[in-house]
Amino acid sequence: MKAKIKEIEEKFHSEIKNISLPEHLEEIRVKYLGRKGILTSLLKQVSILSNDEKPVFGKLLNNLKTNMSTRISEEIASIKSVKRTEVKLDISLPGIKPLIGFKHPLTLITQEIKEIFFGLGFETVTGPEIETEYYNFEALNTPEDHPARDEHDSFYITSKDLLRTHTSPVQIRVMEKQKPPLRVIAHGRCFRRDATDATHSPIFHQVEGLAVDTNITFGDLKGVLEVFAKQLFGRQTKIRFRPDFFPFTEPSAEYAFSCVNCKGKGCRICKNTGWLEIGGAGMVDPEVFKMVHYDTEKYSGFAFGMGIERIAMIKYHIHDIRMFFENDLRFLRQF
Ligand code: DAH
Repeated sequence: MKAKIKEIEEKFHSEIKNISLPEHLEEIRVKYLGRKGILTSLLKQVSILSNDEKPVFGKLLNNLKTNMSTRISEEIASIKSVKRTEVKLDISLPGIKPLIGFKHPLTLITQEIKEIFFGLGFETVTGPEIETEYYNFEALNTPEDHPARDEHDSFYITSKDLLRTHTSPVQIRVMEKQKPPLRVIAHGRCFRRDATDATHSPIFHQVEGLAVDTNITFGDLKGVLEVFAKQLFGRQTKIRFRPDFFPFTEPSAEYAFSCVNCKGKGCRICKNTGWLEIGGAGMVDPEVFKMVHYDTEKYSGFAFGMGIERIAMIKYHIHDIRMFFENDLRFLRQF
């Protein structure tokens, strides 16, 4: 009997060694330990042994039974863990990409614009989006009957407060607090009651520039905007000034950059003019200086404004302003 037990034990171990599937292990369990299994039937035979032999063989067989079932459980566990390691090492599976944030195109272009003006000695200032009529219009020499004050152009909150229609009021706020010399830019959201289309949005962004010192001339304004144009759109960019009117500058001008697409030859983007209008500018009107108690004999200054969406549209070849505000990730992910 002893020899038989040994033989069974060896057979069991050699069989289990070559198994790699859990279902085959189950077959082995049934074969040896099942109700009609080899070991079970041997255990049944213990009862016919002599009283001396019974405990000896009973113990041997029971030990073997325990060993076998432990070994089977171990094998199952090890097959499972091998499987798990295999999954871990499956380099053919695509990785899980963490979603990282990205900057909005208007943020990107604003940063770029700011960098250029920082290089020219300007610093950034901010002002509130809800303005009083005084800062938005009056202090900027815009009289009560000016069409820009019409409720059709502006969003009024109370009879005196409105969402700012441009960044120019920041000029006044800065000059009230600081004495010249001043070189500042202010950027941010502006609001107008414009009907939405491909080039108009009731919410848009502007950059405002202001420089005040002794002996500031129109030549300084031209120089600053020319350097800006060349740094933003390339050295070949030309700049054009044409007379215009703004209540807070005198003389005033509108300025344009040579078309970045056709280099001034004329194309669809510049509507065959060769020029892209960028914004308004001029020498600060002495009436404005008077509002902030600057000495108009001593100081002169220039100011300019530009639409950030307009610049982003030119730079990134975007044809519809609405794209900036729709939050469509397919668009935003491209920047
Ligand atoms: N604030 C003007 C607008 O929104 C733009 C502008 C024109 C700003 C001339 C200026 C300027 O600083 O000098 O239409």
